Amino acid sequence: MKKEIEWGKLGFGYIKTDKRYVSNYSNGAWDNGTLTDDDKITMSEDACVLHYSQSCFEGLKAYTTEDGKIVCFRPDLNAARMHDTALRLEMPPFPKDRFVDAVKQVVKANEDWVPPYGTGATLYIRPLMFGINEVIGVKPADDYQFRIFTTPVGPYFKGGAKPIKVKVSDFDRAAPHGTGNVKAGLNYAMSLHAIVTAHKEGFAENIYLDPATRTKIEETGGANIIFVENDKKLVIPKSDSILPSITRRSIVYVAQNYLGMEVEEREVLLAEIDNFKECGLCGTAAVISPVGSVNDHGKEFTFSNGMEKMGPVLTKLYETLTGIQMGRIEAPEGWIVEIK
Ligand code: PLP
Ligand code: COI
Repeated sequence: MKKEIEWGKLGFGYIKTDKRYVSNYSNGAWDNGTLTDDDKITMSEDACVLHYSQSCFEGLKAYTTEDGKIVCFRPDLNAARMHDTALRLEMPPFPKDRFVDAVKQVVKANEDWVPPYGTGATLYIRPLMFGINEVIGVKPADDYQFRIFTTPVGPYFKGGAKPIKVKVSDFDRAAPHGTGNVKAGLNYAMSLHAIVTAHKEGFAENIYLDPATRTKIEETGGANIIFVENDKKLVIPKSDSILPSITRRSIVYVAQNYLGMEVEEREVLLAEIDNFKECGLCGTAAVISPVGSVNDHGKEFTFSNGMEKMGPVLTKLYETLTGIQMGRIEAPEGWIVEIK
């Protein structure tokens, strides 16, 4: 029986669901893993994660399709990205096939929490991993925990599809040759002061520039950025220090193969922002959220669609992407994984 929740009113918050998946790593091997009711973690005051932030995470969603199936979107790419992140942080990667299997198990075990089709809500899935044993000199842990929990969510930005205001941040998110291209918890710790500052000033998100020259657009704290040059062309910032968003890679494919658009992935200067007609933030949580205006130290640029609604090209991309995710439009091979 579905839980009694006002699905349409959910924001992006945490609600404890019934089951989570836990696997522990010690003596050089991952154990078999299990589903558990226990949402609490006990660890030493000297656990590596508490001092040296040896932690990483992922984010993906489960959807109810139009014909009532529960599906996940490209979980293999989250498995692969978490694998890459683990290697960068000197953590033992959780096997990719086991990652996908664990996602299936935990979604199945929480199926009553998967929001029904048409409510605008989805089940957010949060895999995470951290170094758990005592470490006092600076070095990686020996023991780790991998965990996946779920929580039903609504839109990431208040107001859903209404354009948001963002600012160009004075803080940097990721150093050149740093960890910006992996999903390390420390990247988000770096962004907390910046996001609190932006919110206080009335902005929904920060645009981070490349730290070396502060001229090129990188991404926001929780999403990649896409620009619409015209109704036939998307421009996507390219950089070694932004997270390789699964949503963005899917949008590129959808634009090229479903909508016949040209996609240019290249360095994008802040100075050329007024060449673009529309701008969107894309990610699992953000889906495609339209940006209405960008504020660069008081100089405000408003995209041609203004602050009331999403522009026509982003709307087409949004409809096609979410149509694929919700089973209204045929998906490319392997994109949709049914939870049975
Ligand atoms: N960039 C950052 C910094 C993020 O935290 C996320 C969220 O995962 C994304 C981009 C979008 O990535 P994805 O589309 O894989 O969710
Ligand atoms: C996601 O989109 O899954 C993320 O991890 C972004 C986070 C800011 C919620």
